[in-house]
This record gives sequence, C-alpha cells and structure tokens, in this order.
Amino acid sequence: MNNVGVIGAGTMGIGIAQVAVQNGKKVVVVEVNEEVLNKSKAGLFKTFDKLLEKQKITIEDISNYKNNLLFTTDYNELKDADLVIEAIIESLSVKHAVFQSIESVVRPNCILASNTSSLSIASISAVLLRPDRFLGIHFFNPAPLMALVEVIPGVQTDIKVTELIKNEILSWNKKTVLVKDTPGFIVNRVARPFYGEALRIYEEGIADFATIDWAMTHFGGFRMGPFTLMDYIGNDINYTVTESVFEAFYYDPRFKPSFTQKRHKEAGLLGRKSGKGFYDYSEGVDAPLPNKDEALGQAIFNRILAMLINEAFDAQFMSVASREDIDIAMKFGVNYPKGLLEWADEIGLEQVLVTLQNLFEEYGEDRYRPNPLLKRMVYSN
Ligand code: NAI
Repeated sequence: MNNVGVIGAGTMGIGIAQVAVQNGKKVVVVEVNEEVLNKSKAGLFKTFDKLLEKQKITIEDISNYKNNLLFTTDYNELKDADLVIEAIIESLSVKHAVFQSIESVVRPNCILASNTSSLSIASISAVLLRPDRFLGIHFFNPAPLMALVEVIPGVQTDIKVTELIKNEILSWNKKTVLVKDTPGFIVNRVARPFYGEALRIYEEGIADFATIDWAMTHFGGFRMGPFTLMDYIGNDINYTVTESVFEAFYYDPRFKPSFTQKRHKEAGLLGRKSGKGFYDYSEGVDAPLPNKDEALGQAIFNRILAMLINEAFDAQFMSVASREDIDIAMKFGVNYPKGLLEWADEIGLEQVLVTLQNLFEEYGEDRYRPNPLLKRMVYSN
C-alpha cells in the first residue's frame, strides 16, 4: 500500500498521517476546516524540525515527508488511495456522510477504515455499498508514540481485508491486536476499573486521591496513578468514554460512571488542560501528600488490580480477543507494566478470585461478580 488517505486533521488524524508518512507512504490529509488544516500542517512540520534537532530524522527525510504529504479540503484527492483512515469527530451521522461521499471517489480495491473509539464498526458500515472493505483501525493518542493499534473487523468485513490491514499496520512498526466489534474494543473496556474502582474507593472515604495514586504507582508500578491519569486525559473525555461504555453495555454496573468525576467535569475541573482537576496545577501549589500506610496501600492496589484482571478475563471469556492480544493491548495501549492475565498468573488466580469474592460478598453488588472463566480456571487448578 503506497497511498494513504487520512480524513480529519485533528489530534488523531495528523498523528496517523505522521506515522504513515514516516513509514514511506504518500499521504493525503483531507480536512473540512481550512484553518485547522493549515494549523495542523504547520504543527506537523514543527514536529519534523524537533525530530531533526533530536537527530531522529535527517534533512532528507523531512524533504521526502513534505513531498509525500498533501493537505487538502478536496475529497477527490483520495482517488488514488489504497487505504483511507477516517479520524473526524465522533458522530455517526457525520461519519456516514463522509463515507458516502468518498465511496464513489476511491478505487474499487481501496480499503476504508475508521479510527472511532466508541461507535460500532457495524453501525458505520451500514451505509456503505461495500461494507466488506471497511473495518476499524484504532490508534492511541499520541499516535506516533503509542505502539498499539487495535484492528477491528465488523460483521461484514472480508477476512482478507483484515489480514491485509494487520500486516500493513505491522509494517508501520506498530503492534496490532485483533478485536471483536464490541464496546470499548480491548483497551477502553478492560481499563475502566483503573478509573472506576479508584473513584469508588475515594467515594467510600477509604483514601484520598494522592493515596490511591501512590498505592497504584508504588505497589503496581503503574506510571501514573488513576487520578493523575484522569487529570492528564481530561475529566470530560475520560467521563464521556466511561459513560459511553456503560450505555453500550446496557448499563452493566461494572462500568457505572462516578458522580465525583461527573461533578468535576461539570465544574470545569477538567485536569491539566484547565489548570485544576483532582489536583491543582497552579504555580506554587504543592502536590498533596499521600498516606503511605502500607496495609492500606496494598489493599487499594489489590482491589483495583483484581477488578482489572476480572475485566481482562471477561474480554477473553467473551472472545473479544485472544489472551495474548489482551495482554499486548494493555501493555502498549495504556503502558501497563505487565499484561493483566500474565499478572494474574504471577500473583495466583486463587488470590484474585478471593479478593473478588470478598468484595462481592461484602457489597452484594453485581459489579464485583467474578468472571466464570477465572472461577473455572481456579476450580480446575
Ligand atoms: P479532533 O476534534 O481533534 O479532530 C477531528 C477533526 O475532524 C477536526 O479537525 C474537524 O474539523 C475534522 N472534521 C470534522 N468533520 C469533517 C469532515 N466531514 N471531513 C473532514 N474533516 C472533518 O478529534 P480527534 O480527537 O482527533 O478524534 C478523531 C477520531 O478519533 C474520533 O472518532 C475519536 O473517537 C477517535 N479517537 C480519538 C482519540 C483521542 O485520544 N483523541 C484516541 C483514539 C481514537
């Protein structure tokens, strides 16, 4: 595949365009908003300059990249594309309109893909004349830095298209995982308890933000604790993802959003980008100190990790992805220190099950039900 089209020059689109052009592709970036188009182009060229300064690329590379990039507002420029990746706003009707207008422009063997995080591949493909050549290719933010790409065939995707795309994206130096078209795919589904259970522990008054963050970084080796990470992602974005996964799972209590995060979002306490979130990022404000009580920290970590592992088991149990791919996804999509299923093996499945059973018994809430696959594996040794 030599010619790649990217639709949308926002955060994700421009990142995907960078990945493609740095892997030797000719890239056409189509954007409706000319101002955004120019700004994103300038931003990308600045990124190239920074990479040059760091000696990661050469002057010749930059000149090749610039020659191979076309920024336009005209969909007709996609006529030679072998692959088109759409990364526009998360609206089903707008995505439908875009795919309908490009389907007649692109070549018959051009593969069409969406970078959607929360819409189903099936629903986007519904308006296509040729849904067999359409699938999900889900990059993570920032696309040039995050190694993972989830490849998501829809119910109508031709298996050959999926294979072709898996190999193509692998050749872009990315790790790919194959995922069933289910809400949140792997990462945005399996990672939910990292935020949700941390918020729940806070709401119960067990510990404050700093202590929960300390427990997860100190005992778990996570790069950031949940509240630091939510502030980093933005409480608006993180809350919306949780809410959409909760709705898509027919309100399964495992994914229930938190009032605490909702109130932060409503109040404009979005995190780093607004200067305040769970923490205050103003100049001169010291970060709050955690309560470094070892027993408390260990209990918090055990509880959140058990909930994450339960979710990973559920993804395997429901055939969302293979065991290997679930672990790869969490290591490379959200930089977890270990894959959750390998982690479960390491600490012992029985211990994970006991933690979940204790929570389930104490709270009597469906949210804590241990996954049947985990139970089967423990009971069958
Ligand atoms: P964004 O808001 O930064 O960029 C979207 C761009 O699409 C905007 O520049 C907008 O002007 C443009 N656009 C809107 N309608 C268009 C049209 N008809 N034709 C061409 N361009 C159009 O959004 P972002 O964050 O880049 O997200 C894009 C997609 O990627 C969404 O589907 C989102 O769910 C998904 N995604 C986002 C991630 C993130 O962390 N931001 C991560 C992974 C996937």
